[in-house]
Amino acid sequence: MSLPIAVLVSGSGSNLQSIIDRIEEGTLDAEIKLVVSNKAGAYGIERAKKHGLPYKVLLHTDYRSREAFDQAMVDAIVEAGVGDDGLVVMAGFMRIVTTIFLGAFENRVINIHPALLPSFPGVHGQSDAADYGVKIAGCTVHFVDEEMDHGPVIIQAAVPCQAGEDGNVLGPRILKLEHRVFPQAIQWYAENRLNIEGRHVNVRVAGKPCAGQPTVDTEPKTYALVWPPLEEGF
Ligand code: GRF
Repeated sequence: MSLPIAVLVSGSGSNLQSIIDRIEEGTLDAEIKLVVSNKAGAYGIERAKKHGLPYKVLLHTDYRSREAFDQAMVDAIVEAGVGDDGLVVMAGFMRIVTTIFLGAFENRVINIHPALLPSFPGVHGQSDAADYGVKIAGCTVHFVDEEMDHGPVIIQAAVPCQAGEDGNVLGPRILKLEHRVFPQAIQWYAENRLNIEGRHVNVRVAGKPCAGQPTVDTEPKTYALVWPPLEEGF
């Protein structure tokens, strides 16, 4: 059975689109039960409409507290069919959730951040990294916990950053990889291959979903992104 998911958006929804596309092409074994936005004009809602997906706009300004808003989101997500085995996917959702929300979906909320956490948390990850003058930037998919951009890391992707580039140049380069690593993380979850041990998330080898199995142990030392590139002899 496909993994039931709810996708939370606040803006363009290009990550939502990459998830929709993967589901429709059959490479992601998930079913979007609900798209939720806290912004009425979020283009992510238009994307949901275009694909005939259930959606709901919940304006946080309509609720007396952060907790009341979170409870309304929980109710909508559960009612849509994301029960005890579903996953909540924050795809550009620009709100901090409370323990009301996280308690309802313990270890079942993931987020994508456009920086290599723990560096550059917050709403301007791409431009903060570019302005800092990093040579390597990237994105992070992580489980959501009570702290912003802090939960255990599932997968990260890195891209080079040239001197003088700003967030407007770096952002789209990172976004292209976001659209690949986010569906990958969801698929690993759908295959029950993510094992959280403290701050560490192990990805179990495919086909061995039970606990204690070996994890994906690609030889990290053979993977390296060096920027600016090393020259002959170094
Ligand atoms: C992405 O860069 C994501 O990393 C960040 O917000 C942006 C959302 O983009 N959290 P989109 O709405 O998915 O296009």
